[in-house]
Amino acid sequence: MLDRIEDTGGAISISPRGQELRNRAAVLAPKLAACAASIDRDETYPWGCVATLTEAGLMGMTIPKALGGLGASFLDVVLVIEEIAKACTVCARIVVEANMGAISAIMAYGSPAQKRLAADLVLAGDKPAICITEPGAGSAATEMTTRALDRGDHYLISGEKHWITGGGVSRLYLIFARVYDQDGQHQGIGGFLVAADPANGKMPQGFTVAGREPTMGLRGMPEAHLVFDEVRVPERMVLRTPRGFGSGFADLMTAYNSQRVGAGTVALGVAQGAIDYARDWLLEREQFGRPIAEFQGLQWMLAETTTKLAAARALLRQAAATPGIDGFGFPDVTLAAQAKLFASETAIPAVNTALQMFGARGYSREYPIERMARDVRMFTIGGGTAEILKTTIAARELGIKLPQTRDGYVDQEAAVPMALAAE
Ligand code: FAD
Ligand code: COA
Repeated sequence: MLDRIEDTGGAISISPRGQELRNRAAVLAPKLAACAASIDRDETYPWGCVATLTEAGLMGMTIPKALGGLGASFLDVVLVIEEIAKACTVCARIVVEANMGAISAIMAYGSPAQKRLAADLVLAGDKPAICITEPGAGSAATEMTTRALDRGDHYLISGEKHWITGGGVSRLYLIFARVYDQDGQHQGIGGFLVAADPANGKMPQGFTVAGREPTMGLRGMPEAHLVFDEVRVPERMVLRTPRGFGSGFADLMTAYNSQRVGAGTVALGVAQGAIDYARDWLLEREQFGRPIAEFQGLQWMLAETTTKLAAARALLRQAAATPGIDGFGFPDVTLAAQAKLFASETAIPAVNTALQMFGARGYSREYPIERMARDVRMFTIGGGTAEILKTTIAARELGIKLPQTRDGYVDQEAAVPMALAAE
């Protein structure tokens, strides 16, 4: 495993804290692996594993020390995520969302009260949910129609989101919505925080979990359909990004780049975990009177796969350690996209290779590989599809915008009719 790589930003080295956190995660891994099969079978959120992760201090590692966290870097966090993903994909996704994405956006942009609220929830075991995708706005996220109408001291949020990871189990939600001022004028896209009532755990009036997707893999994690009907969000719960609503989407996505690196690392960890199982199996299983590890066809499959995983690991660590130019230390947009793209496109065939090495047992639910194959398939889709990441990378390489609509223009005013905004 590479612990040190060279890149354009200089050497990337793992700190003693990163090493210690990775060891902590590796110690927990067998316990988490033991629950991975049952949560997949029962489709239940792993509350027991969340308690284990919380006790071990792996929820909210990136939260500053002043708020009770460890002030860990994204590089520290990817070391932990990889170890956990080898054992349980769902647990690893929980660690991503408890350290990156919404929580890191709040730690960067939030008011002191918002940071306190989010830190307390996450350090107690909550995995915040990030709500971007809508039935009519997936890759084209900027075409979202969920709206936030300014009503003076509060906003009213109405609309629908789907495929929201943790919807229904999370207590804190970062909702992306199109903002209209009191005159019905469109202002841009903003982030709004909605939290469960600490007294009874209930979400506010108008916030409904309308359903759950029956997913192929990652079955211990609900992917929820959320409906918002005039959810009241007080002014103090608006996540004010540095450049205001006009560039709110870009600022929020800047923070989201951290989650892309986290997701890519989960894919890497699942693939490494599957290959680790397969490597042991190659040495154990005998055919033709010798361990199958002695057959060169399988040796080369192992060599090629581990080489690509090492490359993915190097890229992910570089992305985690190389901040963009935003001043908040988030991963660079291009590197984050490259890392998630390469890791996810490497991990899927890697798990498939591990499954092949297991023969029929690879196809059996008695062994973990078939679950890992279902789990890992998601990572070229969620969090920006491989195709969208390629467009993101190409746009940055070319230094030009690459609008994907036919006329090269998204009519934002048409996304929500003014009549609705003026209701
Ligand atoms: P579409 O946008 O409809 O795309 C369909 C196909 O067309 C894809 O292959 C896509 O790559 C391709 N395509 C679309 N536009 C282009 C283009 N311009 N050029 C080339 N190809 C294109 N969302 C959230 O907001 N929060 C979450 O927590 C969350 N969690 C998720 C968890 C899982 C398990 C999954 C599967 C999804 C999750 N999502 C979440 C949603 C996810 O981000 C979207 O699925 C993703 O952005 C793609 O949107 P779509 O599914 O609508 O696909
Ligand atoms: N990091 C930082 N800024 C980003 C960004 C990122 N990952 N993605 C987009 N932006 C910025 C753009 O630079 C642009 O800023 P500008 O207005 O200052 O020029 C702004 O956000 C809008 O981006 P643009 O590429 O013009 O948007 P578009 O209307 O063509 O829509 C996207 C394309 C951004 C929606 C699409 O590329 C995308 O990322 N889709 C996937 C959404 C996703 O990841 N969902 C995950 C849900 S969990």
